Amino acid sequence: MPQYVIAHSPRLSGEVRVSTSKNAVLPILAAALLTPEETVIHGIPRLTDVDHMERILRACGAETAREGGSIRVRACAVHSPGDTADMRSMRASVLILGPLMARTGECALTMPGGCAIGQRPIDLHLKGLQRLGARVDMEGGRVQVAGRLKSANIYLDFPSVGATENLVMAAALTPGVTRIENAAKEPEIFDLCRFLSLMGARIAGAGTANITVEGVEALHGAEYTPIPDRIEAGTLACAAALTDGSVLLAGARSDHMRALLFKLTESGLICQEDARGLRLRGRARHPMEARTLSYPGFPTDMQAPLMVVATQTHGLSVFLETIFENRFMHVVELRRLGARIRVEGQLALIQGGVPLNGAAVSATDLRAAAALMLAGLVSQGVTRLNDPAGHLMRGYEGLEEKLRALGADAKKTAG
Ligand code: UD1
Repeated sequence: MPQYVIAHSPRLSGEVRVSTSKNAVLPILAAALLTPEETVIHGIPRLTDVDHMERILRACGAETAREGGSIRVRACAVHSPGDTADMRSMRASVLILGPLMARTGECALTMPGGCAIGQRPIDLHLKGLQRLGARVDMEGGRVQVAGRLKSANIYLDFPSVGATENLVMAAALTPGVTRIENAAKEPEIFDLCRFLSLMGARIAGAGTANITVEGVEALHGAEYTPIPDRIEAGTLACAAALTDGSVLLAGARSDHMRALLFKLTESGLICQEDARGLRLRGRARHPMEARTLSYPGFPTDMQAPLMVVATQTHGLSVFLETIFENRFMHVVELRRLGARIRVEGQLALIQGGVPLNGAAVSATDLRAAAALMLAGLVSQGVTRLNDPAGHLMRGYEGLEEKLRALGADAKKTAG
């Protein structure tokens, strides 16, 4: 059972390299199912979610091979994956739906699992595919989607990241022009579209709310290195802001992190971008207001880590979570460390400037796990972070190792 031990840590200083984005790698791996030719993805982070996706691709009939930090995928013939533990273990397993529909016109899958941070239905994915002409049947936790796809205009009720990715991938091989309105604008979607374009897809408007895809007959192999992880970089920036650090996040893309950097700068951290990445100096001092929104708004994935920063700034901070309905699970754990936080529905009121004291805490979801590790850095004594579900290993490549490289006293003791 993974457990992490974090002691009160000094000012973080030095340089760490940001890993490749998990949320970019997962859809790009799914997109490899769109072609029988070989695709090669570089910079693959060591994450269990990536291992799950690799096994899912194999369960769909693809051959995969790892070489150093790269994965080769060849999907000569593809089919539905069957009911595997990998399919149930993460939400992103649903991303094979678009590629399989595009390639074969049918896909049966188990309803995806993942972090328990809300209902997380897949109705927008399914409605979009229905607009493209698919039939959808649900029975006993399995979804059957089938039909010959034809182009359509799709309006998403909400700019879902996963639904946008699935629909772009489905449309890439669907004859005619498909328009997706109110599409999500996250950098990971732009990155997926860049990869698809290298494979021969015709896509306009990626990164905007209106994406147009002109279906082509076939896609070919491609080689690609996805973008750096803006959430990992943001989490390390919060660690610097908590400890009065002086840190260089090598390779970080500040242009993907504007909303967070604006909050941290307003609060007193000095953030400077240069050719090598993002330099952070000083600490967060002032309370803040943060409302989670779709990109380019403040990311829900940074809500828990920034809340830890808010516990250490003097005054009242106000956080509003609008993307997921159950994403304050870290609050109960932060209270164990002494944090003063009141939750009213989707609103959290944080009375900052209260000293934290080490205690045993539990990782309730992926981003909560990272936030609790940060809280350990500024808690007096020792914090033991139990992570029975292995959340940290799902989504952060050696977060404790990176913090240690910056001088923190954090280690993994089991699992
Ligand atoms: C992706 C990210 C995740 C991030 C989230 C929001 C990946 C692998 N994961 O997740 O880290 O927290 O974006 O930025 O990229 N919804 C529906 N119906 C649907 C789809 C979504 O109601 O069919 C709702 C969800 O329940 C949630 C909201 O829309 O409340 C956002 O979900 P979505 O944007 O789809 O997130 P994911 O793609 O699952």
